[in-house]
Amino acid sequence: MLGDYEYRYEEGAPGAPTLLLLHGTGGDENDLLPLGAMLLPGANRLSPRGNVAENGMARFFRRLAEGVFDEEDLRRRTDQLAGFVALAAERHAFDASRVIAVGYSNGANIAASLLLRRPQALRAAVLLHAMVPFEPDAPPDLAGKAVFLSAGRNDPIVPSENAARLAEILRSAGADVTLSWQNAGHSLTREEAASARSWLDARLDAFQAG
Ligand code: MLT
Repeated sequence: MLGDYEYRYEEGAPGAPTLLLLHGTGGDENDLLPLGAMLLPGANRLSPRGNVAENGMARFFRRLAEGVFDEEDLRRRTDQLAGFVALAAERHAFDASRVIAVGYSNGANIAASLLLRRPQALRAAVLLHAMVPFEPDAPPDLAGKAVFLSAGRNDPIVPSENAARLAEILRSAGADVTLSWQNAGHSLTREEAASARSWLDARLDAFQAG
């Protein structure tokens, strides 16, 4: 336990970036560790368990209905998660300026919220099946942040317009956004994991220390 979260941490190679792994609704801190190892071998992996329970399923923030978020809770949990990452950087001595979020579904939504509300917490983000977490009043400054966003053309939870809107919000805030459309629904596919891996690989020099 650290801050407000149960979590797992797996140390990587010296100077490697840290992947902040954020699972989907009903998942836990173990879910995305293998994906993280596949996406960026040698990275540190920090994987918290969502601290909100919905009928026994762990999530990173409350929702009022499918796709309708409790915005006040989202704000509070986004700040909590940013605080957790800062504490984890101290405890495990990783570089807090080289954190890359990798989130799926609910985890991708809180990662998007971190980008919009606490951009200094992340260097980059891989958002798998994310939606607009909230419409920011004023765009944050996301210059220098890189975002890989993958979306399913037939996602029953995230309409394509919503994924496209998220890309637009992030781009208009200055982020370098790659939007990758999958012939898929809401589930993660091998193809998108492979695309995310190539995307990270192409930017490794920028993410690595030194
Ligand atoms: C959410 O609640 O964050 C999204 O609807 C995705 C999900 O967790 O089902």
